Amino acid sequence: MRVLFIGDVVGGPGRRGLKATMPGLRERHRPDLVIVNGENSAGGMGITEKTAQAIFDAGADAITSGNHVYRHREAYDFLDRDERVVRPANYPHANPGRGHTVVEAAGMRVGLINLSGAVGLTVARSPFHEVDAILERIEADCTIVDFHAEVTSEKVAMGWHLDGRVAAVFGTHTHVPTADARVLPLGTAYISDVGMTGARTSVLGVKPEQALERLITQMPVKFETAEEDVWVMGAVVEVNERGRADSIEQVMVPAPIA
Ligand SMILES: [Fe+2]
Ligand SMILES: [Fe+2]
Repeated sequence: MRVLFIGDVVGGPGRRGLKATMPGLRERHRPDLVIVNGENSAGGMGITEKTAQAIFDAGADAITSGNHVYRHREAYDFLDRDERVVRPANYPHANPGRGHTVVEAAGMRVGLINLSGAVGLTVARSPFHEVDAILERIEADCTIVDFHAEVTSEKVAMGWHLDGRVAAVFGTHTHVPTADARVLPLGTAYISDVGMTGARTSVLGVKPEQALERLITQMPVKFETAEEDVWVMGAVVEVNERGRADSIEQVMVPAPIA
């Protein structure tokens, strides 16, 4: 089974880039399952039912998220309702949405777990304890993890923690792709960050001049989503019948939009 995982879709440019690029990615990689991180899909921050639907319409089978997931109140009911969408599992249990789900692909039950790093981000429980607890009870033939975390040390550690226990650990959140994609010794595909789906003429998806003004003046500046030079970034993992990874290949392609 082939899994295509795509990094944080940022705003309208990210959504349009994803839609325009998916046919080519499908043809090239023939994925059985497409998972997309949508935490920045609504105006560059957060997700709504409408932006999630646009991601599904573009070809996603499931959506993961992260620290911006609760930015739009209107999404709470949708997060409770739609079993194809996950938010970090180590948030307070009573929060809207679910932290893990199971989807079908190529005759396999694929577990999907979303976790937030604890370093530099706010969580209710340790991501390491949380994932152990979920893996004990999840009923799946293989499992994919989106680890939405700030620092590479915590992400790399999670890779080793889960090696041989899940098919893949995809890092998200920093929006900058890392050059460390590999299959760990016990068969878990790992990458610290797959990158983002959005404008590269930006600072993590925000117009560069606005991000710079805030950093240089240290004054509040309204951020807008950048639109120039949209790329789609992610990774493709080949999962074998034992639920382990045979390969991981990084994906970085310019979107065929103006
Ligand atoms: Fe993000
Ligand atoms: Fe994030």
